[in-house]
Amino acid sequence: MELRALTRLAVPAVAALLVLTTGCTGATVQGRPGASGLRDPYFPRAGNGGYQVEHYELDLAYDPADGELHGTAVITARAEQGLSSFNLDFSGLKVEGVEVQGAGARHNRTGNELTVRPAKDLRKGEVFRTRVDYTGRPKAVVDPDGSKEGWITTEDGAVAVGEPVGSMGWFPGNHHPSDKAAYDVTVTVPDGYEAVSNGELRSRREVEDGETEFVWHSAEPMASYLATVAVGRFKVSIGRTPSGVPVYNAVAPDQAAGSEAALARLPEIVEWGSRRFGPYPFSTAGSIVMPAQTLGYALETQTKPVYSGAPDEELVLHELAHQWFGDSVSPKSWKDMWLNEGFATYAEWLWSEDRGGIGAQRRFEAFLAGDTSVDPHADAAWDAFPPAAPPGAEHISDDPVYYRGAMVLHRIRQEVGDEKFFDLLRGWATDHRHGNVSTADFTAYAQQRTGHDLRKVWDVWLYGEGRPKA
Ligand code: ARG
Ligand code: ZN
Repeated sequence: MELRALTRLAVPAVAALLVLTTGCTGATVQGRPGASGLRDPYFPRAGNGGYQVEHYELDLAYDPADGELHGTAVITARAEQGLSSFNLDFSGLKVEGVEVQGAGARHNRTGNELTVRPAKDLRKGEVFRTRVDYTGRPKAVVDPDGSKEGWITTEDGAVAVGEPVGSMGWFPGNHHPSDKAAYDVTVTVPDGYEAVSNGELRSRREVEDGETEFVWHSAEPMASYLATVAVGRFKVSIGRTPSGVPVYNAVAPDQAAGSEAALARLPEIVEWGSRRFGPYPFSTAGSIVMPAQTLGYALETQTKPVYSGAPDEELVLHELAHQWFGDSVSPKSWKDMWLNEGFATYAEWLWSEDRGGIGAQRRFEAFLAGDTSVDPHADAAWDAFPPAAPPGAEHISDDPVYYRGAMVLHRIRQEVGDEKFFDLLRGWATDHRHGNVSTADFTAYAQQRTGHDLRKVWDVWLYGEGRPKA
């Protein structure tokens, strides 16, 4: 008690001294509340204003038998303004306590917005740490399009996925893709289970009787929707790509046989992507194959995509292509989704072309004609909206975003020729590596990089309604 009083005294004394010597007004900080959302066109409450996260440290304990998650999140962030309070996006789970800079902080939650009021205002530029302790049985977050995200339980495990806003269902954070951060994730599970997350496995050890702790590290910046944890009785296999990228595959035992052929291709796909799109953007690669029907989709979770049941080669290719397009080069807003999906879909077309299968030109023509004998999705794109203008939050993962998005890229290729087109793909992935981009960034970049006036392509193919005449 006495010691505490002493240190409390010492801080204002130092601050006062600083004011005297520098003349700044730091001693009487007047913070204001950080915004409760980043005004994303489709998810206006997602993310929060006033700070940028640098690092998430998540310490989780999960027992599949009772479905209880115990979590501690330590979030290191930089204040972008003086802050009297700030928000975290967090859904469901019970908050047991919040500390900012080691001192208890007042907090309250309305909907998915956890407002934190630090004991002392934060200065603009200050790097501060927030600790949130939480617990409970996570509920899935239901997306506007009806699909499920967040912490999804299986018969004997769980997996966390977050596109677009599911991550608030398993950890508090700044849940918008425009704020990327590094992660350290520790997961403790009962013996016999594996716990898998993004990045590299730093350690795996028995901590207490019957419990195993897994420590995962992601140094490269990650958008929170790409963070994952999977718990299950996985079969784990490790290896390397020919150029030395470590590979970690965790596969539900009953999906192992069905996954084998596609996962065997993974090293080759990473190498192929590195040639087509520039160096693989992360220090590890891999996969998490969940039991069939865990989710209604696969997700490009960073370094280790999540599959719902055994994937085929094309799906592995798609999720790995996202490592460049979506994970490394991430959207600034959820309206820019075609920059993820159009590119990953076009990567499928290219992979097929490079391997002597159907060429991208033939596929483009099939889509234009709606000829499903060439590609089963060929008639899916025309009944709705142009790729860069999904009409609402529930449409950001619809077919036009994928297929008409891919067609935009092929139209550019037709205009500028192969050499400039592949230079554009590589340049885009390289120049925006680990960054965030918008559609306007892309159109400007494409024109400047290729030296072509592509405005008609944008008007007709990116923003135009209905089926263009080729
Ligand atoms: N981004 C995922 C993919 O690889 C699909 C996610 C679908 N999510 C959804 N809410 N519909 O294509
Ligand atoms: Zn995709």
